[in-house]
Amino acid sequence: MRRGRLHPMNSPSVRGRIRAASGASSRGSTAKSGSVTPGGLRGIGLLHRPIMMPAMDQNLRVPGPTPLAEAVREAQSAPMIDHRGTEFGELLREVSASLAELIGTRGDVFLLTGSGTGALEAAVVNTLSPGDRVLAVTIGAFGDRFAKIASAFGAQVERLEVAWGSAADPAALDAHLADNPAYRAVLLTHNETSTGVTNPLRELASVARTGPGEPLVLVDGISGLGAMPFEMDAWGIDLVVSASQKAWMGSPGIAIAAVGERARAAGEAARMPRVYWDFAEARKWAEKGQTPWTPAVSVLYGLRVGVRRLAEEGRERTWARHAAIAAGVQAGLEALGLQLVAAPADRSSTVTAAWLPEGLEWAPFNAAMRARGLIVAGGQGAWVGRILRFGHMGDVGIDEMAEALRVMGETLVEFGRAADPAESVRVARQAFEARLSAAR
Ligand SMILES: Cc1ncc(COP(=O)(O)O)c(C=O)c1O
Repeated sequence: MRRGRLHPMNSPSVRGRIRAASGASSRGSTAKSGSVTPGGLRGIGLLHRPIMMPAMDQNLRVPGPTPLAEAVREAQSAPMIDHRGTEFGELLREVSASLAELIGTRGDVFLLTGSGTGALEAAVVNTLSPGDRVLAVTIGAFGDRFAKIASAFGAQVERLEVAWGSAADPAALDAHLADNPAYRAVLLTHNETSTGVTNPLRELASVARTGPGEPLVLVDGISGLGAMPFEMDAWGIDLVVSASQKAWMGSPGIAIAAVGERARAAGEAARMPRVYWDFAEARKWAEKGQTPWTPAVSVLYGLRVGVRRLAEEGRERTWARHAAIAAGVQAGLEALGLQLVAAPADRSSTVTAAWLPEGLEWAPFNAAMRARGLIVAGGQGAWVGRILRFGHMGDVGIDEMAEALRVMGETLVEFGRAADPAESVRVARQAFEARLSAAR
């Protein structure tokens, strides 16, 4: 397993360059020229440009897109090829077959050009008909999106809503299914990126699959797949989707749909309208080593490298690495005095959400972190301005997490909060090592 990789952010000269480029000092004042505030960009004159830094000098800690390994970036700049030629066929077959192994399925894996939301739409329109009863188990913004898509295409969607910040309870799902007429499908989220909560997917899928009418189990696995335990066929999941820019270490642009036998059969009867996302077309063309429409070839080149790296690392080791890094980040954030959103048992291995301390305004705080090269995400929907989200999936190591915690700690101090950045880094590394040793 790779450990202790040196991230470019860790070099003092790079940190110095970031500060110089951003006009920030390590303990500067809050309102910098060019910083983003609720009122817009401050101090922007006609000749003044907002703070911009080259991506390589940023510590990109949003929950996707994720930083790209040099090998991925190099692969993406390879010369273009004919997407109807044999070379592309090899690329498509290799990536689909490796993903099927990593996901744990003998079903089809389609590589669709689009973002994860496109794959959610594909999951719906290829399995359902207008009027179908669908139960959407929603625990956050992305569960809501899945439900919205099914409604938009005419499904009769009912929701089993769980308060944001918590995971769904398999017993509650069981009771709901038993008390209601049969559903055609149950929509589940593996990892809710808006709240940093991972669902007990194996248990939820098992309850859903054996419920009245044996509903189809359709899963949004976009931000969990690849990084966390997942066994599509063994867990009875009929269809799961993901996207290249998450744990798969690629750039945005390729949506991934793994389709099991029951979902494939459901497609034959499904009457929702579809053209671009039609799996029957994808299947027909995949047999020839092609996609129906022009694919994002360069993104696929990069994704191939990401998937090879994951296959080489091995699923269990990848899962253990993510769990250890998450443990480190979570301990480090708590050491900074932040309260985490999710209860310990529900915490995600790919993204951690923390409440913003009382009275700390997100926009200036975020601008100050960005000025130091640290890019984290804010809240979504009702949680805008209330939480921050720290991504730790893909080609990640503990060094860049430690660097992010140090920068966040320094920014908290700048904003008058009692935080000890060095202690946070120490605690994070310790929790990371402890979790890794336990997994060995
Ligand atoms: C769980 C989940 N579902 C859906 C999406 C939407 O994916 P995309 O932004 O690629 O359309 C995301 C993106 O963050 C996600 O994390």
